[in-house]
Amino acid sequence: MFLSREEERILERGDGYSKCMEILVALGEIFGAEKLIPIKHAHVSGISYQNIGEEGLEWLKGLKVKFSVKTTLNPAGMDLEKWREMGLCEGFVGRQREVLKVFKDMGAELTLTCTPYYVYRPRVGDHLAWAESSAVVYANSVLGAMTNRESGISALASAVVGKTPYYGLHVKENRAPNVLIEVKCDCDVALLGRYVGEVVDGIPIFRFKRRLRESELKALGASLASTGNVAMFHVVDQTPEWKDFDIPRERIVVDGLRDLDLECEPDLIALGCPHLSREEVLNLYEVVKNYDGRVKREFWVFTSRKVYDETIDVIRFLEGKGIKVFRDTCMVVSPATEKFECVMTNSGKALTYLPKLRRVKAVYGDLSRCVSIAFK
Ligand code: F3S
Repeated sequence: MFLSREEERILERGDGYSKCMEILVALGEIFGAEKLIPIKHAHVSGISYQNIGEEGLEWLKGLKVKFSVKTTLNPAGMDLEKWREMGLCEGFVGRQREVLKVFKDMGAELTLTCTPYYVYRPRVGDHLAWAESSAVVYANSVLGAMTNRESGISALASAVVGKTPYYGLHVKENRAPNVLIEVKCDCDVALLGRYVGEVVDGIPIFRFKRRLRESELKALGASLASTGNVAMFHVVDQTPEWKDFDIPRERIVVDGLRDLDLECEPDLIALGCPHLSREEVLNLYEVVKNYDGRVKREFWVFTSRKVYDETIDVIRFLEGKGIKVFRDTCMVVSPATEKFECVMTNSGKALTYLPKLRRVKAVYGDLSRCVSIAFK
């Protein structure tokens, strides 16, 4: 891979900056990148102390670097203020605060959300280095920005160097769809995404019978990325780049999806994977206001600080119903969900990761089902 003199100098310094450059060069060489290109924004995952542990924290501390571009962070292991309501202990909270301090000292903004696009909206054609598969697929597909599916470490290296290797989805030709998904049913997009993620390799282009709402595009992408390696999709007549390519010949018709069985009795209802948007918080309010009294089971909702502040009146109403609304964290990266037996969620992504990472059973319910079960 071609490196400028300046890039070579960084590589030879023998410090934390060199380590970051080594990571990018290794990645670029594996994938045949010709050079590094500048990025506008890095989004780093692997923030929860539950996931990185003491070893990860020590590695971060040892780097002694500063970020050179705007850098946002994925959710941490707890709500920074309401962690007691989540049932977390002071020991864990202290270690998590230490992780956040290291990132803050490096120059990150403590956004602690997997929806950085509600905080800073990238433009069409912006090059990014984002970790967090649900944000990556959203940026590429819905916003027309360009990012590969980075790991927490490669996104961090890019945040430091301000560059990323030029390969994969940074190259326009590689963004062409390879399979058309004809959706003939009015299927739940979270379940559709899980199915297509399992059977498709590459970039699907969907043809729906109607225009999808923004929240549906988000849910579709998160699900696609959770069961497969999908980092981008197109939607005919809707997403920004679908017209730039030919419609592929290979075609899959979806005219119905098998219902997922309710395999356990939920003791937690959890929404907000990915973090709820303003529109989704308002939708939740519209459903909840039809029920009298308070919820009869634990009901947790996750969103970003920005959306929380923008919808504070609605959130107060939800809290009055017994629903707990958390920021800075999520149902998958926080150890708080481990104390439950069975979580009901409307997220295709959480269905995959709750059993894997938190070792709890997870069952699917759409928004109205989640709310009706909560009041039962
Ligand atoms: Fe976000 Fe956590 Fe889901 S980071 S996409 S809420 S697993």
